Amino acid sequence: MKNNRELLQTTSGIAASDGDGVKLTRIIGSQELNVLDPFLLLDAFESDNPHDYIGGFPSHPHRGFETVTYLLAGRMRHKDNAGNEGVIEPGGVQWMTAGKGIVHSEMPEQENGLLMGFQLWVNLPAAAKMSEPAYQEFSPDRVPLEQRQNGTLVRVISGTTSEGTRGPVQNSYVKPTYMDVTLPAGADFKQVVGASDNAFIFVTEGNLLIGDSRQHLGHRELGILGEGDQITVSANASARFLLVAGQPLNEPIARGGPFVMNTKAEVMQAFTDYQNGQF
Ligand code: CO
Repeated sequence: MKNNRELLQTTSGIAASDGDGVKLTRIIGSQELNVLDPFLLLDAFESDNPHDYIGGFPSHPHRGFETVTYLLAGRMRHKDNAGNEGVIEPGGVQWMTAGKGIVHSEMPEQENGLLMGFQLWVNLPAAAKMSEPAYQEFSPDRVPLEQRQNGTLVRVISGTTSEGTRGPVQNSYVKPTYMDVTLPAGADFKQVVGASDNAFIFVTEGNLLIGDSRQHLGHRELGILGEGDQITVSANASARFLLVAGQPLNEPIARGGPFVMNTKAEVMQAFTDYQNGQF
């Protein structure tokens, strides 16, 4: 008998601006929800006004964690100081392990139209914070789309669905589940997760009913899920959401802008290394 997770807490995040004036909603990493271990940050951007995104995220460093960029609409070009370059397309994902340091830019590959997507920061354990940088990048056709009998569509970025579809991202450190689920009206969705995982749902279309108590989670809301080994979601009208879960690291977190380490001294060292061109 599976124990269904209930809705514990909700947040809509705060309006923020990052990079060169990109307007976004900071859902994790704000005063309201500083961290949901191992997830350090979740930014959502959604605008068809180029002024909100055209500046992009010019050259900036990262150290100590992984960034996961997932697009639903529009295109983003990334370029880094190791010579890597590519374009992320709708339904495509880039999972970047910044490790000991990477300097990159993330720029819209469009001058108008809708840009919609997410960046999630996944913390690295202390032992892996200074690992070599690495990328996993998958175009939309390489991200499997599971079609269930009740019409539910599950795009699997990482982890394995209850029906056995496995995401292409293979993680060596933290091993989160990351799925993009589209539910037809009246359908329900179940997904087994680790009992000790922290888990959240972010609603991208429509609204949802969570758990046995069918608590309401609205459009553009993030819901933190309570204890249990299964996530159960239903929807009266069609809806779409991201489901993300992962085992907490339970290690001290020291933040300094684009660097997330375990101690303040390590953050200061990151600034020094970056200024000395050692990334
Ligand atoms: Co970045």
